[in-house]
Amino acid sequence: MAELRDNINKRQGHPQDRRLNRDQAMRLSEGDFKFICQFVYETTGIVLNDSKREMLYRRLTRIVRERKLNSFADYCQLLREQGEQEKDFFINAITTNLTSFFRENHHFEYLTTEEIPALIKSKAAEANGKKRLRFWSSASSTGEEPYSLAITILEAMKSDLSMWDIKILATDIDSNVLAKGKAGIYDVNRIEDIPQKLKQSYFFQGCGKSSDSVKVHDKLKNLITFKQLNLLHDWPMKGPFDAIFCRNVIIYFDKKTQIELFARYYELLAPGGLLFLGHSENLGNYQQYFSNVGRTIFRKPY
Ligand SMILES: C[S@@+](CC[C@H](N)C(=O)[O-])C[C@H]1O[C@@H](n2cnc3c(N)ncnc32)[C@H](O)[C@@H]1O
Repeated sequence: MAELRDNINKRQGHPQDRRLNRDQAMRLSEGDFKFICQFVYETTGIVLNDSKREMLYRRLTRIVRERKLNSFADYCQLLREQGEQEKDFFINAITTNLTSFFRENHHFEYLTTEEIPALIKSKAAEANGKKRLRFWSSASSTGEEPYSLAITILEAMKSDLSMWDIKILATDIDSNVLAKGKAGIYDVNRIEDIPQKLKQSYFFQGCGKSSDSVKVHDKLKNLITFKQLNLLHDWPMKGPFDAIFCRNVIIYFDKKTQIELFARYYELLAPGGLLFLGHSENLGNYQQYFSNVGRTIFRKPY
């Protein structure tokens, strides 16, 4: 990487050329824009179009600076020559990771009032052994979604957990956000809207230098496994899942990718399992295979 960067910088030549290049550097040519869009599409499924140009420009500017390069064109060259090594860094810089605790709270309310009581009832009839519950947060970002899910489950279960085998899988393509989720440390203002009782039960307030942050309790962490997973690639897990969260991620994909993913989610859901989508997402033609049981909540038939 350093060697390639030096070569690129050397090729800039005379200092006067460098000055010229600096002016040109902040221009994102049509060719480079198209190349970047194609690279992003092929590696992540994310569709970037003209409406995303500004956002891409800002993020690329940061990347070029961090990589100590002189222009967008240099960065495209780096991606062409060392795309495999650069991929992780690039994806982490390009993804949109916006999330929050109990985002779209109606999903957690549905779990609390309808789904978890129903699961407790139906699994009570199961024979010996621990009763299994499996959840998947499939674009978990920095972890607020799977932690909200874990709090919801623990609050709704109430009963003795020793009879239950509960696991939440949290995956994302972005290794930085996964590390943040795994650490489970957040700015205190991220939990300001959470009821006091839940804050006390599930978060430790930092002290001294860390008084601006909170750490999630181990009883949440113990339920969750964070793993890097690109939704476009193979999924190593077998399921079946009682519920899958696929929220605010398919919005970035094209219809073809969305339908492929819906079919794969369907396969991994248990009969009667739930698929949660984000507020501006829908199943399109795939809706016929599910029943719509709430706002952006879809049930696979039993
Ligand atoms: C806007 S966040 C949504 C977070 C959370 N689900 C929510 O609704 O609050 C979208 C996440 O999708 C992830 N993502 C984008 N493309 C992906 C892919 N191909 N595979 C897995 N995750 C992806 C991003 O890294 C990002 O963290």
